[in-house]
Amino acid sequence: MTDEFSLHPHDATYLADAYDYINENSFGETYVRQGNILVEELISRINLQNASTVEPLKLLDLGCGTGRISLQFLSSVPEYKAIEITCVDQAIAMQNVFRRKLEQTEFEKQIQFVTSPIADMNVDAGKFDMAWAVFTVLNYITDRDTLKRTISKVYEALKPNSNFIVDIAGFAFFDEKMRTEKTNRIFEFNESFLKRIVMIHNTEDPSIFTYEEYAQSGKMRFKYFHYIKLKYWSIDEFKQIMEECGFSFKCDLNRLNFTGSHFMVFEKISTQSV
Ligand SMILES: C[S@@+](CC[C@H](N)C(=O)[O-])C[C@H]1O[C@@H](n2cnc3c(N)ncnc32)[C@H](O)[C@@H]1O
Repeated sequence: MTDEFSLHPHDATYLADAYDYINENSFGETYVRQGNILVEELISRINLQNASTVEPLKLLDLGCGTGRISLQFLSSVPEYKAIEITCVDQAIAMQNVFRRKLEQTEFEKQIQFVTSPIADMNVDAGKFDMAWAVFTVLNYITDRDTLKRTISKVYEALKPNSNFIVDIAGFAFFDEKMRTEKTNRIFEFNESFLKRIVMIHNTEDPSIFTYEEYAQSGKMRFKYFHYIKLKYWSIDEFKQIMEECGFSFKCDLNRLNFTGSHFMVFEKISTQSV
């Protein structure tokens, strides 16, 4: 173990290759439910009538990881040929897993990859019909300036009045007790085929936490320990930053509360200068 925190925690093959297996098996039904509801909510926010193969709907999957949401999205839309998803992630190891999964599907023409932090992504301005950054992607950003640069970049990419759907890690990670006490083992899964322990620790900065994860599977032949920094963004502060970047809060997605994360829909205000 070192004292270095990786800024690109998922850019390690050992972690990316195990990622789907450990989440599917340790979170089980909750993970499946989260994916299903999320994709339903995303689909309800696009206008498929506007989509054609000539002028496809353009979507942004930010922090796409191994492609869980984009692949399920395309499988759930019969008109998938009229949709293009640009999938951005700073971790090429995660996108490589995504690429391997994509090869087994009929969606290859629908997906483009951009390997970059969201704040620096090179995508067309004003061309996207919707964006999402889900499964605590934005909690990996630990300072206000970078978060603002990230959100401003999403604002720039979207068409006026289009939606940006995000979640911010909530009570399951950062409840009041956790913020005042030293450490907490927040998740433990212990079966013969997979062991996974997640622990959160306080740091000197009361809004920054270390996330430590230990996972091991004899069956799948992996064993790793990794740790990263996560930032507790209060919902109020997060909404304020979104507004400073030109978004207006539209609604909470309460159906996803059971995940312990706070899911919200924001809309790009077209008239505001950022
Ligand atoms: C917990 S995974 C979520 C993956 C996917 N959204 C899902 O729901 O399965 C977080 C992903 O966000 C990526 N990520 C974190 N911060 C990022 C940033 N600033 N820019 C681009 N990708 C980022 C990580 O590399 C990782 O693949």
